[in-house]
Amino acid sequence: MVVLKTGRELQIMREACRISAGALKLIGSAVEPGVTTAELDRLAEQYILKQGAKPNFKNYQGYPATACISINNEVIHGIPSEKRKLVNGDIVSVDLGAEFNGYHGDNAATFAVGDVSSDAKRLMDTTRESLYEGIKAACAGSRIGDISYAIQKYVEARGYSVVRQFVGHGIGTKLHEAPEVPNFGTAGRGIRLLPGMTLAIEPMVNLGGYDVKVMPDGWTVLTRDGSLSAHFEHTIAITSDGPQIMTIV
Ligand code: MF3
Ligand code: CO
Repeated sequence: MVVLKTGRELQIMREACRISAGALKLIGSAVEPGVTTAELDRLAEQYILKQGAKPNFKNYQGYPATACISINNEVIHGIPSEKRKLVNGDIVSVDLGAEFNGYHGDNAATFAVGDVSSDAKRLMDTTRESLYEGIKAACAGSRIGDISYAIQKYVEARGYSVVRQFVGHGIGTKLHEAPEVPNFGTAGRGIRLLPGMTLAIEPMVNLGGYDVKVMPDGWTVLTRDGSLSAHFEHTIAITSDGPQIMTIV
């Protein structure tokens, strides 16, 4: 069931989203060669707690950390580790969220570590832009498939592929709510978008094929062909004035 939020609920959610975006921004500014992914995770956790919120990934289905930190061919759900240091030339995808007064925010971005290849830059730019294409399509009266199609079309026109096994989602009093928001699909299909819907749109884009596999740790998702992958996510609200990005500082 898709839950529509009232204006008062959206106000609280904006706070959860603002904190989520602040934590992501903080991690982005700390990304540099030599830093461990566990150090980045601690920064995010301390920030979220200081804002009076809770890291909402921690303990979600047993997930052990505040952030998912995924490097290069890792697509999503990389577990922060004291042993994993960022290296010049890496791209690092950070995904995290916060719960505030019972409402959730969720966002992600891929950052460059030092100097990265032009291939990596173009992949990151394309993935970020595809998220904005999806958001532009998220207007009241349109359908979920319009978002999916906008993302897929933008990505595939540039020669990349969209991950199919993981999708975006509704969000609100739970981190994951209905509906699913696939990053591929057909315009005009799926449920109609209504004011008060809140969605996490999150394209995951691979430089090679779209197939992925899960590592033996049970979490880390890798590209099957070893190619680079990028991930960007915003939590948005559908309003009568159009889509509104909530995960901004
Ligand atoms: N960030 C993921 C999403 O966007 C959820 C992470 S699952 C967790 O839907 F277990 F790692 F928290
Ligand atoms: Co999400």
